[in-house]
Amino acid sequence: MPAETNIESHLIEKRVFKPSAEFKRRARISSFAEYERMYRESIARPEKFWAREAKDLVWRKKWDRVLEWKSPFAKWFVGGKLNVSENCLDQHLHTFRRNKAAIIWEGEPGEKRTLTYQQLHREVCRFANVLKRNNVGKGDRVIIYLPTIPEAAVAMLACARIGAVHSVVFGGFSAESIRERISDSGAVALITADGSHRRGAIVQLKNNVDHALSGGTSVKRVIVFRRAGNEIHMEPGRDIWWHRELEYVEANCEPEPLDAEHPLYILYTSGSTGKPKGILHTAGGYLVGIHSTMKYVFDLREDDLYWCTADVGWVTGHSYVVYGPLAAGATTFMYEGAPNWPEPDRFWRMIEENRITILYTAPTAIRAFIRWGDSWVKKHDLSSLRLLGSVGEPINPEAWMWYYNVIGGGRCPIVDTWWQTETGGIMITPLPGAIPTKPGSATLPFFGVDAAVVDAHGAEVGANVGGKLIIRKPWPSMLRTIYGDTERFRKQYWSEYPGEYLTGDGARRDKDGYFWIVGRIDDVLNVAGHRLGTSEIESALVAHAKVAEAAVVGRPDEIKGQAVVAFVTLKGDAKPKAELKTELRDHVGAQIGAIAKPDEVRFAEALPKTRSGKIMRRLLKEIATGQTVSGDITTLEDFSVLAKLREEE
Ligand code: WT7
Repeated sequence: MPAETNIESHLIEKRVFKPSAEFKRRARISSFAEYERMYRESIARPEKFWAREAKDLVWRKKWDRVLEWKSPFAKWFVGGKLNVSENCLDQHLHTFRRNKAAIIWEGEPGEKRTLTYQQLHREVCRFANVLKRNNVGKGDRVIIYLPTIPEAAVAMLACARIGAVHSVVFGGFSAESIRERISDSGAVALITADGSHRRGAIVQLKNNVDHALSGGTSVKRVIVFRRAGNEIHMEPGRDIWWHRELEYVEANCEPEPLDAEHPLYILYTSGSTGKPKGILHTAGGYLVGIHSTMKYVFDLREDDLYWCTADVGWVTGHSYVVYGPLAAGATTFMYEGAPNWPEPDRFWRMIEENRITILYTAPTAIRAFIRWGDSWVKKHDLSSLRLLGSVGEPINPEAWMWYYNVIGGGRCPIVDTWWQTETGGIMITPLPGAIPTKPGSATLPFFGVDAAVVDAHGAEVGANVGGKLIIRKPWPSMLRTIYGDTERFRKQYWSEYPGEYLTGDGARRDKDGYFWIVGRIDDVLNVAGHRLGTSEIESALVAHAKVAEAAVVGRPDEIKGQAVVAFVTLKGDAKPKAELKTELRDHVGAQIGAIAKPDEVRFAEALPKTRSGKIMRRLLKEIATGQTVSGDITTLEDFSVLAKLREEE
């Protein structure tokens, strides 16, 4: 029934939206009491709960033990064997889903493709044979550098089918970033496309790959999918065409039964120090977690057309564009391009034309839509939508309300889902038929998730007191380690509160136990829903010949959530010119990727430091946001630095 009847108060903090009777009627979990009962059971007896969830999947061999927990190392479904691609494909072929659409895709220029489960299965088998033909085997690492096209899913599933470990690199990342990921993972093969379409232009993917591979790497084979038709270089003996390879292979390929703890993928994400971390996820626990959240959080029905707008290069693309929906037998919609191409109503046009029922997108996109104006939305019939999702950063209550009213027509529940690359799947979230929502809150923990907000000593804080968000018990889709760096894994996540997982986020719980995530508390920025380590950008800047020192901080940004501000001191005779700012921005773009380019570069004569030499980011943050510097500066080494930084404004 109309949304307005749900509003209990017009005070922002007090708005509560109860699931409508209509939504509840068909929901999987349809009352708060049912959520509470299941949650309590999942925490009291997690092994029983997860064993039941795991039974939804196809196992080649049943597990001996659900969990083996030797903190910080977890093994889930120990002794069990399964294949992720079999679960995403083959199992559906024995049902009416055989001819159901698995993927409906639209390219940015407007092409449309539909792959049924049967067709997708065939493509995956063929491509798995291409991998085998090219000496890619179980345990080998494979880099995937593709746009959001069906072949990205095909490549991922083909790796999973033969037990190769994929590492998808976001198509917006630079040659340098690809090279770093190849070297860290020791990948033997790379799958890419000639180019991809973005805002009417062609992104030169293959060209970036050529740069990444120049000078030699562990990559022996590059398989190139023809997507954009742009002219590219093919290196003899190394590069081969995807379509040509298909001519040599058969369409059957048995899925390899793999250990539940066999690695499925490595996905690199930024941390607070040094180079990106290779987050490792394994087959069994990951798939159980993803399948379970997919089913309950999106309250999936057989006839849904589900669209998660994420790029396959991010964890959201892994868990909720490819593996989750396909394991659940859903139809997953994929779109290659930009939301405002050719016009700002692209999303709404596709929702109307395809009659999409579930939309899962990011606050940064929602804020951009708000800015582009309601008229773009109003041109379209969005009545097919029944559920909305948000992910990537805290959603501000105004954006939540706009999403609810303008996109959802006051009819669709919003699931604001908190999770991370490391958690693999959704951790804190409403269940749409059961948990009343409050704009801006991710609400309550999912089943089996023992989340808490704690103080410096690890003691749980009271209602509405801020603290660090931790997870106190292992969960199936948790990361298993940082690839090649167990010490960093231990230190980063498990050392501050031994035995408990440190998320790196700050949060508070209100009197109803609802979580309000305030964002990162470490040196990690969240720009347009993507994680960027300040130190990573600083290293890129310092690598420039003219830069002596750099400090990067975030500044609140209306659209992107946070903008990147770089304070830079120059070497010797380098002149602080405007052109140098552009040069430095481009330099960061080339080192990491366009998303990491500083929005603002400020030259400084010196950076504010403590007597022990630590850069005082708090001060820089205040300067970057134009606030007057407040608080304690007694440890500041040179007071004149502050005055100079202010003059620069
Ligand atoms: C960080 C994880 C999860 C997939 C996309 C990002 C922030 C994520 C929310 C949310 C508030 C959120 C956190 C988290 N975040 N979702 N619903 N509400 N904050 O994955 O790159 O691993 O980033 O994104 O700060 O730690 P990621």
